[in-house]
Amino acid sequence: MSTLKSILHETRVFPPNEKFVKQANLSGIQAYHNLYAEAERDLPAFWDKLARENIIWHKPFTRVLDESHHPFFRWFDDGELNVSFNCLDRHLATQPDKIAIIFEADDGKVTTATYRDLHKRVCQFANGLKSLGISKGDRVIIYMPMSIEAVVAMQACARIGATHSVVFGGFSAKSLHERITDAGAVAVITADEQHRGGKINHLKSAVDEALAMGGTGSVKSVVVYKRGQGNLALQVPRDVWWHELIKDQSDSCEPEWVNAEHPLFTLYTSGSTGKPKGVQHSSAGYLLGAIMSMQWVFDYKPTDVFWCTADVGWVTGHSYVTYGPLAVGATQVVFEGVPTFPDAGRFWKLIQDHKVTTFYTAPTAIRSLIKFGADLPGKYDLSSLRLLGSVGEPINPEAWMWYYTVVGKSRCPVVDTWWQTETGSHMIAPTPGAISLKPGSCTLPLPGIMAAIVDEAGHDVPDGKGGFLVIKRPFPSQARTLWGDPERFKKTYFPDELGGKYYLAGDSANRDLDGYFWIMGRIDDVLNVSGHRLGTMEIESALVASPLVAEAAVVGKPDEIKGEAIVAFVVLKGARPQGEDAHATVIELRNWVSGEIGPIARPDEIRFGDNLPKTRSGKIMRRLLRTLARGEEITQDVSTLENPAILEQLKQPVA
Ligand code: PRX
Repeated sequence: MSTLKSILHETRVFPPNEKFVKQANLSGIQAYHNLYAEAERDLPAFWDKLARENIIWHKPFTRVLDESHHPFFRWFDDGELNVSFNCLDRHLATQPDKIAIIFEADDGKVTTATYRDLHKRVCQFANGLKSLGISKGDRVIIYMPMSIEAVVAMQACARIGATHSVVFGGFSAKSLHERITDAGAVAVITADEQHRGGKINHLKSAVDEALAMGGTGSVKSVVVYKRGQGNLALQVPRDVWWHELIKDQSDSCEPEWVNAEHPLFTLYTSGSTGKPKGVQHSSAGYLLGAIMSMQWVFDYKPTDVFWCTADVGWVTGHSYVTYGPLAVGATQVVFEGVPTFPDAGRFWKLIQDHKVTTFYTAPTAIRSLIKFGADLPGKYDLSSLRLLGSVGEPINPEAWMWYYTVVGKSRCPVVDTWWQTETGSHMIAPTPGAISLKPGSCTLPLPGIMAAIVDEAGHDVPDGKGGFLVIKRPFPSQARTLWGDPERFKKTYFPDELGGKYYLAGDSANRDLDGYFWIMGRIDDVLNVSGHRLGTMEIESALVASPLVAEAAVVGKPDEIKGEAIVAFVVLKGARPQGEDAHATVIELRNWVSGEIGPIARPDEIRFGDNLPKTRSGKIMRRLLRTLARGEEITQDVSTLENPAILEQLKQPVA
């Protein structure tokens, strides 16, 4: 992994090649500067024009931005639209037979849906949901494998004005339960099975387990898509098969026109407390962010075959699978499986087979494929590619160079996109026909995004110094609130310490003398493990819920492939285990966390101590734990430590 120092000494610069510039939606650096300046001059006027040009309104808006309830901003708030109409119906007149989705299953089976097909399927399913009594404003949990049906389920909710909340299929029954109850969901849409890398995950049984945990009385229906053999007993009348539900439904469904600010979805993400936050997004502003970034960052062209590898359980799968590509009328690949099954050539084979032009994935996937050598991508025809993207975590310059040279053959710009669940769409990312690239930097903010770096008091810091990444002015796609917790929204993202004015992203960053942004990592107790966001507190709560554990502290350590690995320091209720015993307890606790949160949260390493390093006032000194986790010598001052001897114990990994 690159160190901070090595990133800041990165001097390679890749200007856009002439051929790309010529055809780009935003062509040449002057075009970028002009657009950025236009937004700076009059931010509402800038977004006003784009919202009119890019969204189809049922009732056009007359107001652009309302800041009177800062930081609960409202955009276009007397306008009405339907997001599903904007993704599907708008294309029926012009390109009904264009393929919207090429779906490749884990086992390689390919199915496709045109815009006409997809529209019909969404309408039918929307009518099915209505027949269950689901209507505008209801919350619906979606717990599905990657599939055309997952996209249909989300779009159908949007069509009837129900607010969806997708839960990643890798989350445990307990995590699912937490999200169902917090959202007060009326229905859960799921599948019997999920197939990934040749393994089967039983989603419906996790739903049953979650609903048996209690407090889920709001859930009236469970819709089950038959992905596998369907060998399961439905709990009638609560459960209904997807195919039964749509059997007699009409394939047309008048969209529910909703206000621009109507919550399209909530999506739970990790923060610095144990409880995940339900990030709430709007309809129009969110959609506008997805559309503009498709145009600016992905330089979308009607001939593109777009492929974002993210699961719809994450925000990337919302903006760049379900909404962005469909809103612009793209053909896209949706993939059920994993990059290494049946072998590590799978991604490259998919690109070759479906002639993918725009490929968007996470650094962790790239790093895991680098391991298999440059020969492997070389065996496939990747000449269809014209643009590569990266998301979810900092991409180290070596991985960037490999992606650029080995996958993109030094022809394709790499767009490193910095954004978050809360921002809804790209914030800092190259517009590739305009901006020269530097490996490891997400480059410059998009037009209309007033990104800056400030100190603890909210004052601008000089370029090159580093500080907190903030966005100074509102933007349409930003989260509107946290579901059911506006206070936490305000405190987390617009803290008084910074004067309450700016959106605090939670990342530290540096801006170099060319104005390029370099993201350094989180400033809070949030880990980024394989591009997945996890709170250390969440994992600690899961650990102490085990009958074996008295106390736990979790930190991250740099990892070659995953970006960050999870290290847990644990004090057991019984004696500190040794040898075989310690080994068995590690396995037991790792599985425990996996059951509590999901396999993504399973600690990579667990160490045992009789206590944790604490100050005399009882505060755990995490920075010492981070040093220990890295296997580095402690050079910090430990004089305030109550129990310095404990450090020796915690130095030792379990063999
Ligand atoms: O720390 C940043 C990192 O991921 C966080 C957001 O995580 P999440 O809400 O799960 O969204 C991930 C997909 C947008 C950020 O606070 N992050 C995301 N993209 C980048 C990044 N760090 C560096 N470079 C990026 N391109």
